Amino acid sequence: METLGLAIDTTFDDTSVALLRGTRQVLSNKTLSQYKDHEAFGGVIPERASRRHLEVIHPLIQDALKEGGAAFDQLDWIAVSHKPGLLGSILVGLTVAKSLAFLLNRPLIGINHIEAHPYANFLGNSPLAQALANGQNPFPLLHLVAAGGHTLLIYQRDHFQWEIVGRSLDDAAGECVDKAAKMFGHPMPGGPVVDRLAMAHPPGDVAFPRPLLNDPGLDFSFSGLKTALRYHLEAHPQAPEGPTLAAYFQAVCDVLTAKTLRAARRLKVERITLSGGLCASQKLREEFRRAADQEGLELFVPPPALCTDNAAMVACLGAFRHQAGRHDSLALDGESNLLG
Ligand code: KG4
Ligand code: ZN
Repeated sequence: METLGLAIDTTFDDTSVALLRGTRQVLSNKTLSQYKDHEAFGGVIPERASRRHLEVIHPLIQDALKEGGAAFDQLDWIAVSHKPGLLGSILVGLTVAKSLAFLLNRPLIGINHIEAHPYANFLGNSPLAQALANGQNPFPLLHLVAAGGHTLLIYQRDHFQWEIVGRSLDDAAGECVDKAAKMFGHPMPGGPVVDRLAMAHPPGDVAFPRPLLNDPGLDFSFSGLKTALRYHLEAHPQAPEGPTLAAYFQAVCDVLTAKTLRAARRLKVERITLSGGLCASQKLREEFRRAADQEGLELFVPPPALCTDNAAMVACLGAFRHQAGRHDSLALDGESNLLG
């Protein structure tokens, strides 16, 4: 009989709870986003985020159990993201997970949210989930995790064996896109609007920079791109929104695809995956599809809803950790830093 696990993620501004059978059958995956709560402040206020998590976490767990048709005493393990993110937010999910593990006398599994993102590619009937189910070894993999808080290239040898081989030295790619949308007056999250415009308009002829594109390293930098847009809008206040944002997003896509392919070549990896909120972008997915085909690489992309923050990916990694007996004690601490 396959195990039943519950996973919780409250690392940033989304509260998410998922129920997973085995390592890939998602019975429920419920996420409440806080964007609206923070809109008036122009950014996420950590104190408000923690309070909001606290208000919604219990009903959300009840919802997830109900939708998944399960009761507390049927759970075999509890997984929770305990890093990285906003510490006050993490502690809400972590405390609830610890209480459940203690009361139900089930193992607690601490998850690194970043390590979990690529596991969105191992759910359901996805090719990687099927490969594992058929006893094939899909590793090594190169993962691009592109979100609002992180832009990372991760080389993974096997479950639990991974290292960061490239990262943004300043803003994350998603943040750079959100800020561009904001300059045109769009609320958070700006990614979906920019993506829609980039699909609808050919990129205008503004020569936006491709930061670090010609640098041989695997790190990214996006803050200069954002500054270039600000200067462009100061000089051309009437710049048309569609073509300008399309040209801007093209620069983001060019850098992400070029660096990921360079990393794959250098590390001799034949399979790459995308995850993180920005990878919900249709435009970015198309660009990657084309680039991977040209390079002869296998590309794995989760459904858009599993790109943005969700507890199903946390549950998936949790299930593999449970299988491997990698449990944690109830003294598990929260960490705001990625590598802490
Ligand atoms: O992974 P995520 O939900 O949260 C973080 O860990 O940051 O990513 C959020 C980012 C934001 O920058 C948002 O604008 C972007 O993902 N995003 C999208 C789409 N959906 C979310 N960007 C482009 N197209 C989308 N459909
Ligand atoms: Zn995330």
